[in-house]
Amino acid sequence: MAASGASGSPSMPPDTATALSEGWEQRATPTIPVDLDPDPNVLEIELEARVAEVELVAGTTTPAYTYGGSVPGPLLKAKVGDRLIVHFKNSLPDSTSIHWHGLRVPNDMDGVPGFTQDPVEPGGEFVYDFVLNDAGTFWYHPHIQSAAQVGWGMYGPLVVEDPSDPDLGEEIVVVLSDVSLDDAGQFVPADVGGEFGDLFGREGNVLLVNGQVMPRLHVQAGKRQRWRVINAARSRYYTVMLPNHTLTRLGGDAGFAERSSEVDSVVLVPGERADISFLPSSEPGATDVMQWIATDRGLGSTFNRPNVDMFEVATLPHARVEPAVVPHQLREIAPIDTEGAPVFAFDLGMWTDEDGNAVMGINGIPFQDAAPIHATMGETQIWRVTNETDFAHPWHLHGYFFQVLDDARIPEWKDTVDIPVGGEVRMAVHFGDRPGMWMYHCHILDHAEAGMMGHLHVMEEGAAAEP
Ligand code: C2O
Ligand code: CU
Repeated sequence: MAASGASGSPSMPPDTATALSEGWEQRATPTIPVDLDPDPNVLEIELEARVAEVELVAGTTTPAYTYGGSVPGPLLKAKVGDRLIVHFKNSLPDSTSIHWHGLRVPNDMDGVPGFTQDPVEPGGEFVYDFVLNDAGTFWYHPHIQSAAQVGWGMYGPLVVEDPSDPDLGEEIVVVLSDVSLDDAGQFVPADVGGEFGDLFGREGNVLLVNGQVMPRLHVQAGKRQRWRVINAARSRYYTVMLPNHTLTRLGGDAGFAERSSEVDSVVLVPGERADISFLPSSEPGATDVMQWIATDRGLGSTFNRPNVDMFEVATLPHARVEPAVVPHQLREIAPIDTEGAPVFAFDLGMWTDEDGNAVMGINGIPFQDAAPIHATMGETQIWRVTNETDFAHPWHLHGYFFQVLDDARIPEWKDTVDIPVGGEVRMAVHFGDRPGMWMYHCHILDHAEAGMMGHLHVMEEGAAAEP
């Protein structure tokens, strides 16, 4: 019979109580889906793609394309070896699909309409069902009209934990993205800027962190957090830094790298992830601001572009604690045996056709005219990707991790890597299992849609390549 005002601690109103715990403030906390399966080794969920009114900018609502009504979509969190079952329903007015970026899924679960499944039409359904083979930080997004649909809010985080990882503190998911909104908070047309938009790649004017503008993260001085950062933007490169702090990079796409490294900033190209151990070093009560810094990715990408504030890191007024030590050696990564492996060359290109239209492609061929390349299951190949265009391109391969062949880099498993202007990146990839048709493309989604994409047919041993 207590009056409502008498509940809780008299000296601490509920809001203060929330503000005194670590982690994201409420509005930036990822949505967690209901697990329909009581088995601890199965995550079974329902996920509906639908238009929803979301509050991206405080005080305005934006009709967005969403997974489950939120931007980003729900955080799918499981442990390595678990089975993920997603009952997917499309309530959008457009066809869509779900591609599981970076995951080694069976080919028919890869979510590429026209190659691995039919598009999920409006009103249609599809069940994604596969085992999570690898620990790491992943994400999901559509693979049809992807520049438009990702740009309208269709992306979500997927974290696969490895229970044998050292305890590096609370895990914080940081989904980076940007949206192009007009003054009324509505999305500008997906093809805004015409050909120039295609060439540069469309960067949104509003930077979002977990779907919010400038959210606040609470930390405790000395107490490490493990940040799983995802670049889900359709085109924007992120260099991120926090004044007065260094960051410890643990790895990225597929979990830990071989060694941890202390860095002043971290670069994430579109599609890429970073696994970071963050050590709050400011005084209790202080607030720092995480910043976006322009990355040099070609013409016009850095000139006159100021840093942009992304989120606040507020140090709680608690006493500093003794920081946990991050191991230097994190994992053993055996180099892929490339002895005798054939080398395949991929040259990224942008050119103008006879009618004056911008065209993009690989080895002079836009995707719509390209024939698939081939690999035989069990084969190892070396891919050499070159870029003579005026822009950098984030290279992404579906279905398999690769190792970048560069002694200056700390070994790690990757699925997305930058190919800088005038650059050449060589990578080793082993097609050990899961035959089928797999895509590779630039993850500036405007470029992929303009033709900078290819497909690879991984064939069963003994199968003959089609002409
Ligand atoms: Cu994020 Cu074809 O991929
Ligand atoms: Cu590109």
